[in-house]
Amino acid sequence: MVMFSKRKALLAIDQGTTSSRAVVFTPDYKVVATAQREFQQIYPRPGWVEHDPDVIWATVRATAREALAAAEKAGYRAEAIGITNQRETTLVWDRATGDAIHNAIVWQDRRTADICAGLRDAGHAGLVSDRTGLVLDPYFSATKIAWVLDHVDGARARAEAGELAFGTVDSWLIWKLTGGALHVTDATNASRTALYDIAANRWDDELLGLFGVPAAVLPDVRDSAGDFGRADAAILGRELPITGVAGDQQSAAIGQVCFNPGEMKSTYGTGAFLLINTGDTPVRSKNKLLATIAYRIDGETTYALEGSVLSAGATVQWLRDGLGLIAKASEIEALAQSADPDSGVYLVPAFTGLGAPYWDAEARGALTGLTRGSGRAEIARAALDSSVHQTCDLLEAMAADGVEARSLRVDGGMARNDTFLQRLADLTGIETVRPASVEATAWGAAFLAGLGCGLFASLEDGRKLWAADQSFTPAGDPERRAADRKGWHDAVARVRSDAV
Ligand code: G3P
Repeated sequence: MVMFSKRKALLAIDQGTTSSRAVVFTPDYKVVATAQREFQQIYPRPGWVEHDPDVIWATVRATAREALAAAEKAGYRAEAIGITNQRETTLVWDRATGDAIHNAIVWQDRRTADICAGLRDAGHAGLVSDRTGLVLDPYFSATKIAWVLDHVDGARARAEAGELAFGTVDSWLIWKLTGGALHVTDATNASRTALYDIAANRWDDELLGLFGVPAAVLPDVRDSAGDFGRADAAILGRELPITGVAGDQQSAAIGQVCFNPGEMKSTYGTGAFLLINTGDTPVRSKNKLLATIAYRIDGETTYALEGSVLSAGATVQWLRDGLGLIAKASEIEALAQSADPDSGVYLVPAFTGLGAPYWDAEARGALTGLTRGSGRAEIARAALDSSVHQTCDLLEAMAADGVEARSLRVDGGMARNDTFLQRLADLTGIETVRPASVEATAWGAAFLAGLGCGLFASLEDGRKLWAADQSFTPAGDPERRAADRKGWHDAVARVRSDAV
């Protein structure tokens, strides 16, 4: 067994879609301190979603300082920082001042749907998916970067002159933490831009030309564990090396020790993201799943097949904040349990369109099958079920691609909900496993940081630290399952933008 001196710790910065978190872990996966700040979502127009880059930075800085201080108080000292982040979200800043030239355009933002449709009509979808493993959708960074360069006065010329930098949130945070010393990203984040050739592991000139993104704005791409510079002493109170970086879904896959082909996890955060390790070759989906980089360590790339659902926890949040149906997200479990299981109510949470396997940017949400007997409980159940059904859709697409998995490791806030996990097992027909800690995303970044700074020797050190908490075995009546799935598909068919 690997032995560690008692007080060493690792700081994970988890910059998510709705909040910034900082978690200090011991090297044996115990949480020593956490800090969290939710921040404002900016919706300038229907389908548009932005974040204030200064707020992202301020909340990260504040939570990191708070968690580091609490850890010190408890007798632990962080040795290194790991960063994990909402992916695809696009920032462009001025290299001279370090100021962003526009709000961050969030991954959920659909403003470039027309640009994507135009590129699809012009026959470019094949090139994009062959090189990047992605589909032509506004979800990814490329069209968002071009949009900023074309809508901020003088930005395109300044970008071409090398005065502007583009980054996903990890790059922005590294730039800020290092006082502008480094403009870098890691391979997992680069693989979400639609500008990166995932097999060759380099930015792709043809794609840069297609999307109209000047090479001069791009960050340098590094392995997920290694040197990402040092956080300036003035920022966090003391100098600290940044030694691990990964997009949040890849980080969760690492935290869930999906290191062998066939190992799979699903994270229920704002959206839901299912990743299955496919080893050292990208699997090209014929069913609109994404091939993506799971991690790159010591120059070796491991790939994953991903299914991306745009609204999971966001649906529960909408019940709370939009409808006022519940006061706290945790209330949904009891309410859903009291519902009539045969109510026939379905909620399709296409608030920002539908992700995999539909990729319909123009679809919008719907609540179907309402009768006078439907109430709060039936809507709550339909909301939880929407995440279950969307997971089933992904697993069915994976099976159609010839990729099967025997068990599903779950994490994220909704993984605390037993009713949801049992439903997931029943409808997917796959054993669903909740690990002892549902902090997989933050832990993945901390673990990478530990690898990067030499606290861990290999991925196997991570495997030894993972433990299951509870397994949910599929049960339930196959006929009812089939009827449920049919009801869901009928409801989805009604919201599709191509439905007549
Ligand atoms: O691709 C978007 C994803 O990275 C967002 O994750 O945890 O903020 O829902 P989350």
